[in-house]
Amino acid sequence: MFTFSLLLAAFATRCAFAAPNLVKRLTDTQVLQFALNLEYLESTFYSRGLSQFNETDFENAGFDSSVRERFVQISEHEAIHVKLLQSVLGSDAPEPCNYTFPVTDPVSFVTISFALESAGESAYLGALSVLQNKTTVTTAGTILAVEARQASYVSSSILNSTAWNGPFDTPLSTSAVFSLASQFIDACPSTNPSLIVTPLPILSLSPTNVTVNDTVSVSVSTKQDFSPSNITIVDDTFIAPTTDGSGPFYLAFFHGSQVSFAPLNADNSTTIPDGLAGVVYTALVSSNATAPSPDTTLSGLYVLNIPVPPSADNSSN
Ligand SMILES: *[C@@H]1O[C@H](CO)[C@@H](O)[C@H](O)[C@H]1NC(C)=O
Ligand SMILES: *[C@@H]1O[C@H](CO)[C@@H](O)[C@H](O)[C@H]1NC(C)=O
Ligand SMILES: *[C@@H]1O[C@H](CO)[C@@H](O)[C@H](O)[C@H]1NC(C)=O
Ligand SMILES: *[C@@H]1O[C@H](CO)[C@@H](O)[C@H](O)[C@H]1NC(C)=O
Ligand SMILES: *[C@@H]1O[C@H](CO)[C@@H](O)[C@H](O)[C@H]1NC(C)=O
Ligand SMILES: *[C@@H]1O[C@H](CO)[C@@H](O)[C@H](O)[C@H]1NC(C)=O
Ligand SMILES: *[C@@H]1O[C@H](CO)[C@@H](O)[C@H](O)[C@H]1NC(C)=O
Ligand SMILES: *[C@@H]1O[C@H](CO)[C@@H](O)[C@H](O)[C@H]1NC(C)=O
Ligand SMILES: *[C@@H]1O[C@H](CO)[C@@H](O)[C@H](O)[C@H]1NC(C)=O
Repeated sequence: MFTFSLLLAAFATRCAFAAPNLVKRLTDTQVLQFALNLEYLESTFYSRGLSQFNETDFENAGFDSSVRERFVQISEHEAIHVKLLQSVLGSDAPEPCNYTFPVTDPVSFVTISFALESAGESAYLGALSVLQNKTTVTTAGTILAVEARQASYVSSSILNSTAWNGPFDTPLSTSAVFSLASQFIDACPSTNPSLIVTPLPILSLSPTNVTVNDTVSVSVSTKQDFSPSNITIVDDTFIAPTTDGSGPFYLAFFHGSQVSFAPLNADNSTTIPDGLAGVVYTALVSSNATAPSPDTTLSGLYVLNIPVPPSADNSSN
């Protein structure tokens, strides 16, 4: 496995995902507007899920009786994050969008909760180096830590998995996070300030519950079309190449401060590299010669959750 360190500044400034988008530096207000959009999404996810499933439903799905009450607490945290960001942004605050979540039972609710908390943490982590105002950095840090604790609780206490990924977590840019969040967004009010993100095609892996050395089948949907609403303005510095079958293609795996690659076979299958642990974000790219850049990134992100048994070497992720 060949790994690039994204700490190399020369690559980091060009990286589409792992580094914040420095091609077009966002203002603090734009970063906070993006954060509020995420908090609206999370808050709606929890309040809707909790209205859908009562304690008995959670117990019948095999969860401890305390689990629903814990989600009530998490839901309260998200609602308070919404209020805080609304008050910081004042008249610059966007309104909530309309959302659809593929929640069919408490198990899918818990699984999506874990993905949302992990992506939320990575979003705040990616925002830190973009924010200029140190007071705002501290505010973002206090929320970041809570998102990380919530992800750990869901992963360890509920899913009986690991509480951490490894020594490092993964910062993501707004476009990277949006490629995950946008799958739940139907439309946003046309009066909302525009989000400065790049819509990307949705990446899917099959099967979904994979670990290292597993072979997976990779597919990419058409780019999401948000044209009637004001969800996004395409960052016009970005031109996505098309997957015309010419190849070569790779999956890039973003883990901690590193990115690793796996080549795509002719049948669109690939093998998950060894050495990955916990939450790993992956995207389809057209080159393994440099860290992924806007020129080589072909899809949005997909979240993997690689099992980490207690006996495993967890000194890297
Ligand atoms: C990039 O992928 C090619 C196969 O497409 C492989 O031969 C080469 O070793 C890889 N390079 C790196 C740096 O991983
Ligand atoms: C919980 O919801 C289920 C349907 O999802 C319903 O059958 C049951 O009566 C509810 N239990 C309580 C205690 O409200
Ligand atoms: C930083 O943000 C705080 C809180 O919103 C605000 O009170 C302060 O004026 C800002 N500082 C600068 C230099 O803009
Ligand atoms: C987690 O472990 C507990 C206790 O052994 C068990 O009741 C529960 O079903 C497990 N949950 C999952 C999601 O495996
Ligand atoms: C959101 O859904 C409501 C209720 O269905 C609808 O009235 C409204 O127009 C939708 N908003 C947008 C931005 O599409
Ligand atoms: C929002 O979308 C509408 C209709 O597509 C457009 O007329 C309007 O200019 C957009 N507003 C902003 C702020 O982009
Ligand atoms: C994935 O799920 C399938 C079917 O539920 C199961 O047989 C398989 O062991 C799981 N694989 C992993 C890596 O957890
Ligand atoms: C993955 O495969 C490699 C090569 O076959 C092997 O050395 C390694 O132990 C495997 N890793 C795991 C976690 O099974
Ligand atoms: C691989 O994926 C590409 C792009 O989605 C598609 O055009 C092609 O037909 C796929 N190839 C196979 C063998 O499924």
